[in-house]
Amino acid sequence: MTRILGIETSCDETSAAVLEGSGDNVVQKSLVILSQDVHRVFGGVVPEIASRAHLTSIVPVVQRALDEAGTRLEELDAIAVTNTPGLVGALLVGVSYGKALAFSRDIPLLGVHHMEGHLFAAALEHRDAVPPFTALLISGGHTLLLDVEAWGQYRLLGATRDDAAGEAFDKVAKLLGLPYPGGRYIEQLAATGTSKRFTFARPMVRKNALRDDDDYYAFSFSGLKTAVLNAVRASTDIEADKADIARGFQDSLIDTLVEKTARAASAFGRERVVLGGGVACNRTLASAMRARLEPGGVKVFTPTPRLATDNAAMIARAAFFRFEKGERSGLDLNAYASSPIPGLVAA
Ligand code: KG4
Ligand code: ZN
Repeated sequence: MTRILGIETSCDETSAAVLEGSGDNVVQKSLVILSQDVHRVFGGVVPEIASRAHLTSIVPVVQRALDEAGTRLEELDAIAVTNTPGLVGALLVGVSYGKALAFSRDIPLLGVHHMEGHLFAAALEHRDAVPPFTALLISGGHTLLLDVEAWGQYRLLGATRDDAAGEAFDKVAKLLGLPYPGGRYIEQLAATGTSKRFTFARPMVRKNALRDDDDYYAFSFSGLKTAVLNAVRASTDIEADKADIARGFQDSLIDTLVEKTARAASAFGRERVVLGGGVACNRTLASAMRARLEPGGVKVFTPTPRLATDNAAMIARAAFFRFEKGERSGLDLNAYASSPIPGLVAA
């Protein structure tokens, strides 16, 4: 049995978790997530403030994760830490702390790709959320459609050409005067709106699309955001219209996500679809995905909100796979703002 401490500081959550087990049989012993609410007043994450906040919280957050797991530092087999992608200053706090812990205990260190972590989140709760599957990772910074043949073998089918799905939610929320981060406020508001009044074009979804088209699996949300902006400007009573606009926006974005995911699952004959990232908290999306795919025998897995958004449990979970393959990072491990997910296979 292996016991791994995971650390995540890539954006505005300071998180630590302890996981125990082997293979796909891994149990979460603890998970602590400290969200930095300070960014709300700025309407977005301020990198410098994020790094400083990680610095003040990392020690107590890790200590608490160990306490809740009933584990001492001496009982850990490895330290896993997100080292890419993310805000470099924020990542460096986790990376430096993780290195120091690994060095002081003389145990292995593993740098983990944040998006690979999101891929493993659903597996923490659902035994069957394991490859082969189609994955849709939708967060504030990324929108990735992947075919996952096996852990560590990721075929990148599509990504966004401009804004990420979560970013589109956040920008539209701002246009409608909702708090940051706005995804869940849009979802709440849209639930009170009607679908008939504002219909926005579905980005990059054509009826006659062919598998070889270069936008067959691609996403683009900035045009949709502009269409919403125009609707907001044209409105003579935004208070009365905003729920319907939110509904129209969310319907369009969800339709696109569902269509592209369905295309991928069908093209590769996958019977499982795994969602990950903060936008996977959206229940309207999850039900639309199920309504479309489950009649065809495809099961849809979504992590609970705590595991869908940024957390260290998913980082430790991905590290189990890498650790068992014999991978280790050196003490020269660095932080990178962006880098491709490891294990990409040709599309
Ligand atoms: O994965 P995550 O926690 O952080 C990043 O790595 O970016 O994702 C955060 C994103 C934000 O854009 C937030 O608005 C969005 O997830 N989000 C949602 C919902 N809850 C969070 N978007 C749509 N509907 C939701 N219910
Ligand atoms: Zn994330």
